[in-house]
Amino acid sequence: MNNRVSILPSLLAADFGNLEAEIKRAEASGADALHLDVMDAHFVPNLSFGPDVVALSRRVAPGFYRHVHLMMTRPDLYLEPFAKAGAQTIQIHVEADCDIHTELKRIAGMGLRPALVLNPETPVEAVYPYLGETPEILVMTVHPGYGGQKFIAECLSKVTDIRRRVPGIDIMIDGGANGETSVQAVKAGANMIVAGSYLFKQEDMRAAVAAMRASF
Ligand code: DX5
Ligand code: ZN
Repeated sequence: MNNRVSILPSLLAADFGNLEAEIKRAEASGADALHLDVMDAHFVPNLSFGPDVVALSRRVAPGFYRHVHLMMTRPDLYLEPFAKAGAQTIQIHVEADCDIHTELKRIAGMGLRPALVLNPETPVEAVYPYLGETPEILVMTVHPGYGGQKFIAECLSKVTDIRRRVPGIDIMIDGGANGETSVQAVKAGANMIVAGSYLFKQEDMRAAVAAMRASF
């Protein structure tokens, strides 16, 4: 586990008319990685983008770590295209319709970092069988599908529970993060924060990332 808290801007909140510039802006902010939200209009009621945008971010900012969140019913069918496009971490949902043990192993077998995600309504026990098979758990703090939603603070008890069970694991939160809610999440035990609308709406993203870091 990384003791320093990682900050990941979510590209979903970027200006899609200026994607290249937005990716560069996120990289120049001093954030740790780019969070790329992939939605299939089945697992969540929205569509976002596919491997081409991951490949674009590799071309525009090759040194900026690519962290890919697959909100998909069948992530198993798309691991290869995302790996080819340059994904470095691939997150799959525990609620997905595939064998989680197998897919975590497949991601690791591709030389990538596998991570597991749980939705707000999913009890924390759902990830217990996999805690030894992934270095990172993402506890969703909104119902996935859209950026700009309100932080669900009740989800933080899951962060604390996982932190107690596996002190060395990376725990990320995603959804509704801002200057205040990210501090609550870190206090609960998170060490990775995804922030979409909060960071991309800033005129000076670099100052906002620095302020966030200073608040932990
Ligand atoms: C939610 C996505 C999040 C989202 C976060 O479906 O997984 O990554 O982009 O956006 P904000 O930070 O605006 O809640
Ligand atoms: Zn996400």
